[in-house]
Formats: sequence, C-alpha cells, structure tokens
Amino acid sequence: MCPGSFDPVTNGHVDVINRAAALYDELVVAVLVNPGKAGFFPVEERMELLREAVAHLPNVRVDSFQGLLVDYCGAHDIPVIVKGLRAVSDFEYELQMAQMNRELAAIETLFVPTAPQVGHLSSSLVKQIATFGGDVSRLVPKVVDDRLRERAAQDPS
Ligand code: PNS
Repeated sequence: MCPGSFDPVTNGHVDVINRAAALYDELVVAVLVNPGKAGFFPVEERMELLREAVAHLPNVRVDSFQGLLVDYCGAHDIPVIVKGLRAVSDFEYELQMAQMNRELAAIETLFVPTAPQVGHLSSSLVKQIATFGGDVSRLVPKVVDDRLRERAAQDPS
C-alpha cells in the first residue's frame, strides 16, 4: 500500500510507486480522503491523474478511501505500507504514523528514500508554482502538468 493525498501526484510519488511496485506482486495506491480538507483537485480527479501516471505498471491498482489507513489495509489483507522519505524533516511525522499504525493493527511500514532528483518536490509547492504560472513540467507527470495548465487558464487569479 502506498497511501497519500496525491493532490496532485508528482514525480516524487511516481518514483516511490515505481520502486514499491518492483518490490511486491501487487501494489495499491490509495488516495486517503481527508473530510476536513477540500483539496485542490477532487478525489476522483486525483485518482484519474494517478491512474494515468502509473499506467506503465501492470501490478498497481489505484483506489480511494475515507477512514483509517489500517482499516483499509485490514479489509484488503495488505501487510505493508510503503512511504517515501525525502529528508530528515519527513522522518519525525512518518515515524510517529508508522508506530501508531503498528500499534493499531500490527501493520509494518517500509520507508523508501526518494531519489535525490525528486527530494525537493511536494504537491503543495507544485500547486503554488503552477497557480502563479510557473513551469512545473519537470516536476510532475505530463497529464498533471496539462491539467494544472488548464486550471491556471480557467482561474487566472
Ligand atoms: O500525502 P500525505 O498527505 O502526506 O498522506 C498522509 C496520509 C493520507 C497517508 C495519512 O494522513 C493517513 O494515513 N490518513 C488516513 C487516516 C489515518 O489512518 N490516520 C491515522 C494515521 S496514524
């Protein structure tokens, strides 16, 4: 399981998904819905972008879920969560979640260090840059770049 908000998917996510897909027979990439957060792209659109971004990986399935990650994993017999670590700053929060998920449901978390070329990427920076007309074409899959350009053209604020 590779969980996240994926709002939107970046090349950093794709790096982690590629590598997790090489480690396991099956990989679920799940958009976890945060009911308190509107999000930039609706969940259905995030899933559609993800599906296109991982279309080259036949053992990857994209899904969404609202609730506890461990409940989804339990219901689908998923034994491992895979998370990317960009920097030490990610580690503290990710460690806390990994420990909590293990306490809740004895589920293991595997940390994958992101490729250094994508270590500076985040969905929030990508959205900010794209909203102000910056070029994010090297940072996200083409389908996401196209969609961000459409959004910026519709809403040039
Ligand atoms: O891409 P993000 O926003 O860093 O992903 C965080 C996410 C969605 C993986 C995390 O918030 C999560 O697992 N949410 C589901 C709710 C849950 O299980 N919370 C308890 C975590 S210990």
